[in-house]
Amino acid sequence: MMEFRSMCLLFLILLISIMQPVFCVDDPVFNDDILGLIVFKAGLKDPNHKLSSWNEDDNTPCNWEGVKCDPSNNKVTSLVLDGFSLSGHVDRGLLRLQFLQILSLKGTIPEEFFQQCGSLRTVSFAKNNLTGKIPDSIGSCATLTNVNFSSNQIYGEFPSGVWFLRGLQSLDLSNNLLEGEIPEGIQNLYDMRELSLKKNRFSGRIPEDIGGCIVLKSLDLSGNFLSGGIPNSMQRLSSCNSLSLQGNSLTGNIPDWIGELKDLEKLDLSSNRFSGLIPKSLGNLDMLQILNFSRNQLVGNVPDSMINCSKLLAIDISHNQLFGHLPSWTFRIGLQSLSLSGNNYHGLEVLDLSSNAFSGELPSGIGGLSSLQLLNISNNNLSGSVPVDIGQLKSLYIVDLSGNKFNGSIPFEIEGAISLSELRLQKNFLGGRIPAQIAKCSSLTSLVLSHNKLTGSIPASIANLTNLQHVDLSWNELSGSLPKELTNLSNLSSFNVSYNHLQGELPVGGFFNTISSSSVTGNSLLCGSVVNHSCPSVHPKPIVLNPNSSGSNSSVSSQYHRHKIILSISALIAIGAAASIAVGVVAITVLNMRVRSAMEQRLATPFAFSGGEDYGNSPANDPNYGKLVMFSGDADFADGAHNLLNKESEIGRGGFGVVYRTFLRDGHAVAIKKLIVSSLIKSQEEFEKEVKRFGKIRHQNLVALEGYYWTSSLQLLIYEFLSRGSLHKLLHGDNNKNVLSWRQRFKIILGMAKGLSHLHQMNIIHYNLKSTNVLIHSSDEPKIGDFGLVKLLPMLDHCVLSSKIQSALGYMAPEFACRTVKITEKCDVYGFGILILEIVTGKRPVEYMEDDVVVLCDMVRGALEEGKVEECVDERLLGNFAAEEAIPVIKLGLICASQVPSNRPDMDEVINILELIQCPSEGQEELLE
Ligand SMILES: *[C@@H]1O[C@H](CO)[C@@H](O)[C@H](O)[C@H]1NC(C)=O
Ligand SMILES: *[C@@H]1O[C@H](CO)[C@@H](O)[C@H](O)[C@H]1NC(C)=O
Ligand SMILES: *[C@@H]1O[C@H](CO)[C@@H](O)[C@H](O)[C@H]1NC(C)=O
Ligand SMILES: *[C@@H]1O[C@H](CO)[C@@H](O)[C@H](O)[C@H]1NC(C)=O
Ligand SMILES: *[C@@H]1O[C@H](CO)[C@@H](O)[C@H](O)[C@H]1NC(C)=O
Ligand SMILES: *[C@@H]1O[C@H](CO)[C@@H](O)[C@H](O)[C@H]1NC(C)=O
Repeated sequence: MMEFRSMCLLFLILLISIMQPVFCVDDPVFNDDILGLIVFKAGLKDPNHKLSSWNEDDNTPCNWEGVKCDPSNNKVTSLVLDGFSLSGHVDRGLLRLQFLQILSLKGTIPEEFFQQCGSLRTVSFAKNNLTGKIPDSIGSCATLTNVNFSSNQIYGEFPSGVWFLRGLQSLDLSNNLLEGEIPEGIQNLYDMRELSLKKNRFSGRIPEDIGGCIVLKSLDLSGNFLSGGIPNSMQRLSSCNSLSLQGNSLTGNIPDWIGELKDLEKLDLSSNRFSGLIPKSLGNLDMLQILNFSRNQLVGNVPDSMINCSKLLAIDISHNQLFGHLPSWTFRIGLQSLSLSGNNYHGLEVLDLSSNAFSGELPSGIGGLSSLQLLNISNNNLSGSVPVDIGQLKSLYIVDLSGNKFNGSIPFEIEGAISLSELRLQKNFLGGRIPAQIAKCSSLTSLVLSHNKLTGSIPASIANLTNLQHVDLSWNELSGSLPKELTNLSNLSSFNVSYNHLQGELPVGGFFNTISSSSVTGNSLLCGSVVNHSCPSVHPKPIVLNPNSSGSNSSVSSQYHRHKIILSISALIAIGAAASIAVGVVAITVLNMRVRSAMEQRLATPFAFSGGEDYGNSPANDPNYGKLVMFSGDADFADGAHNLLNKESEIGRGGFGVVYRTFLRDGHAVAIKKLIVSSLIKSQEEFEKEVKRFGKIRHQNLVALEGYYWTSSLQLLIYEFLSRGSLHKLLHGDNNKNVLSWRQRFKIILGMAKGLSHLHQMNIIHYNLKSTNVLIHSSDEPKIGDFGLVKLLPMLDHCVLSSKIQSALGYMAPEFACRTVKITEKCDVYGFGILILEIVTGKRPVEYMEDDVVVLCDMVRGALEEGKVEECVDERLLGNFAAEEAIPVIKLGLICASQVPSNRPDMDEVINILELIQCPSEGQEELLE
């Protein structure tokens, strides 16, 4: 299945690939409009020769059919091609028409389109803004197997002629404005594998005869206005592995026979009006991975049989009317993960059964859910004690058991849940003391234990939880005084201990200087200024001598002296207190600077990290104290970071810095990049924000950023280490023994395209693509490194880009030289094009000869013009390459390296084209002709 668009691009590559005008947008003389229109025309089919007046040899396009210009500058302002019966691909050549104000293509699919369809098998109009109706003539195009109209504005009724296309294998009409009923007649499409009508306005019932499509693998009718029940014929869809009826108004029961659809991996019936019980037969769906029954009117309980759905990754049964005992199988799935690990089983990560009416005790075995990150069973009717094996859940990040009837005490074993960030146990019947061991949960930011029956004093060890922000212990029976150490909690933003039996002095300093009285109210024996209740003096008699006195004990003798002494004693106490507060604040600020970010990171992405850790030497004994943040894992350097950066471990150098190799304590190697553009780096805050963003990017074709180290003078980025080295080394290194094969080269090109496409999807421009920045994994999979580093610099100035960073000669897109052009991700596509040529030819982008400079892309383009392009392929391959792949790949490289950014394809298109090139036989068969 191919997209129309990529077919056209491929067509362009094959036919007009050499059209490469010398071009700079700054040049006012050059008439870009002609070129734009000719490129546009090349993508169109013009059965009535309406565009025959469009001749590239003309000096001006202004007399061309359908074209109108502004007479003052002869620039095209209007293009009206209505009724020309054009079809094909609206090329971005149009983007060159900088003065275009009116564009009318009246995009409908011409009725005749399907009348002479010959042996057309695949047709895709996907993702265009086509309007109008699907021509009825489609029914006469009997050879069609794959039809894709998705993501347009097509309206009207379902073209019932489609059901005559007996060979149809896939039909995608999703994301349009189609309405009316889906007609019957589908039952004759024995070959239909994929049917998507999602996000239209279809109403009425699901066709009763849909079960005739017995090889259907994927059925998506979501986001329509369908009503009625699930037709019984669907029982025959036993090959179906993805079924989505989400977001309709379907009613009735979920049929028992659903358990016979044994291949189902995804079942989404959410947001309908299904009622009744969840059928027991679901337990037979042993391939099921995703089950979504959310937002229906289901009653009863989740059947125990589902313990047999051993591949289940996600289950959403929220917003129903389920009740009864919490099904124990939800906890045993995790145990099975042990025996299923070989199947790529990831374990249950989220268990959200909140706000139902589950009762009874929490089954034991929760400790087996080893991947659990979020446990929310709040607002049910559960009783019994908090399971002790909660402490076995090392990934557990959020626990919410609030609003139940748990009793007993908080188990000290909770100390094992080392990733815990939020613990909510409020509104239960918990008694006993708060376990001091909770201090081991060092990531805790929220601790909410209010409305229970907790007794005893607040453990001072809580003061070690320096990440704490929200603490609510109100409405318990806590006694004793508030530990002074709590003032160490410098991230606190709320601390509520109201309505307990606390006594003594409120701590002074830190958050407690500004604590509101409502947070401490209801403790009649607390004293301090906040509660308006002065404390009895508890200071021991000072042993400070009056500095004015000469004798030993004479100072307390007179009234006058006594007064003076008292003054100086209170002054001393005050100064002493101030000093220790100041020291405390400084130390804590430093400490927290390093902890805070790790914490933010956890808050921002609760599930992405398995336990972000933050290491740093104590500020007290290291003057160069810095902050080291690893995004995952419990790793530490085998050696202090500074010592590592010596010549011996250096493995590379680039525009941004020097790269070293080192080992973490656990023995795994990492590459450390020491940024040498220190002086240009943004503030720490922005630096960290960007770096963390990069840290979240995980893709098999991108080098993973594992962490970073920050001091104001030294910044390190910690990357995964790839022992095989860079593409540059493999291509141009001096060992001629291990020449990359054609297969390997193709794989590298495709992989790079995927990596780059992923970056662009994340809105990251690489800016600095070159073969030294592409690392090769032992599996030949390429991984692009150094992405986004430009973002760390204060401004994206052209000078910075071209001089400092984009120093890599030959890869730099021409628009870097034209100040008026906005730099977009197309600059990466250019660099990618050069990389393609470099990989295929084995030559550097710019080679310096005796007294000559050879620019690779000019050289290849020249060879193509002379019809000798095959000679460009790396001679070390000794002719062992597939010319039918190599030549289109070279052409693709040249197109990517087009001078004009808008002529370069998107990376997504590049991937499509590469995949087409990879299987040329299939590709040609399906080419639209
Ligand atoms: C239809 O085209 C869209 C856009 O290219 C694509 O995402 C979708 O997978 C295609 N549908 C089928 C059934 O291949
Ligand atoms: C289709 O039109 C909508 C608005 O009418 C626009 O936002 C969207 O970008 C267009 N899509 C394409 C592929 O041109
Ligand atoms: C289930 O479907 C609902 C709405 O239909 C959606 O909001 C929710 O994210 C889905 N749950 C899962 C786990 O995909
Ligand atoms: C799970 O499957 C096994 C074997 O097919 C069966 O014996 C057992 O009854 C099933 N369990 C439940 C709870 O249905
Ligand atoms: C648990 O779920 C309830 C809703 O059912 C929600 O209000 C609450 O915020 C969730 N708890 C956490 C910690 O996310
Ligand atoms: C806080 O942690 C330190 C070091 O881990 C430990 O020595 C100290 O006893 C702890 N403080 C409390 C009050 O538990």
